[in-house]
Amino acid sequence: MSNNLLQGKRGIITGALDENSLAWKTALKAHEQGAQIVLTNAPIAMRMGEIKKLAEQTKSEIIPADATNMDELTNLFIKSQEVMGGKIDFVLHAIGMSTNIRKNIGYTELNYDFYNKTLDVSALSLHRMLSVAYKMDAINEWGSVVALSYIAAQRTFSFYTDMAEAKAMLESIVRSYGYHYGKFRKVRVNSVSQSPTKTTAGGGIKGFGDFYDFAQLNSPLGNASAEACADYCVSLFSDYTKMVTMQNLYHDGGYSYTGITDDLLKAFAKE
Ligand SMILES: NC(=O)c1ccc[n+]([C@@H]2O[C@H](COP(=O)([O-])OP(=O)(O)OC[C@H]3O[C@@H](n4cnc5c(N)ncnc54)[C@H](O)[C@@H]3O)[C@@H](O)[C@H]2O)c1
Repeated sequence: MSNNLLQGKRGIITGALDENSLAWKTALKAHEQGAQIVLTNAPIAMRMGEIKKLAEQTKSEIIPADATNMDELTNLFIKSQEVMGGKIDFVLHAIGMSTNIRKNIGYTELNYDFYNKTLDVSALSLHRMLSVAYKMDAINEWGSVVALSYIAAQRTFSFYTDMAEAKAMLESIVRSYGYHYGKFRKVRVNSVSQSPTKTTAGGGIKGFGDFYDFAQLNSPLGNASAEACADYCVSLFSDYTKMVTMQNLYHDGGYSYTGITDDLLKAFAKE
């Protein structure tokens, strides 16, 4: 269903790896709502990925960029404006990667080279993108930047290891750059703290399947799906949320404010 919420807007969508990706669903919904978009991902991911299919479906161009590389990010913003014919109205940051998690290294044993990489890819990349856009004044007034986060930024989740710090840093950058970009061009910057979702990044975490079921039982509305996340992102890109900025917005079916549910108690009942 399209209400043309994003008619006439130009967006950059990072992180669409395959059709399970939160970014993939968001790209489809943004296109459905009338937006013109550019898709981007790390060159290495795109060789493996199926992003060309998404580009065909959304009639969009693909501009590769490693989000830790300033030259590639600069090229991304220059080319995106050329291709779409004007300044950018919205950006989705949907980038996360931890080699410590991939290699199953626990929190007390973290490898610090990997740790730095986690922070660079998953958090500093937002600062880099905002900084590139800010310096070339590439985002229109009242533009909207959304980054995807997770509640491990606030509370400890044993399996999330160094990604917890990455998300805490990401949300801090949302607030800090949100202030500066708000003053500069009324650009808003928010993070969406999403339920566990079965994607490549999510599924790569040990014990994720069990935790997904736990969160499902402990959320009054159940886990928020990737489609629902995409809808929420679209609303944040739209003009209906113009005065929302510097926020971390929970999109988790109520999980973040739930202590315990009857369903979870039932699952643990001894008889
Ligand atoms: N899946 C979940 O349970 C969940 C929950 C909350 C938040 N998130 C966040 O949502 C975002 C999207 O993840 P997803 O779950 O859709 O998984 P995904 O694996 O589909 O997406 C992660 C993306 O990050 C990209 N990426 C990695 N390194 C990069 C780099 N150097 N430069 C550019 N891109 C790079 C990958 O290629 C991939 O497309 C991430 O920030 C993730 O932490 C996911």
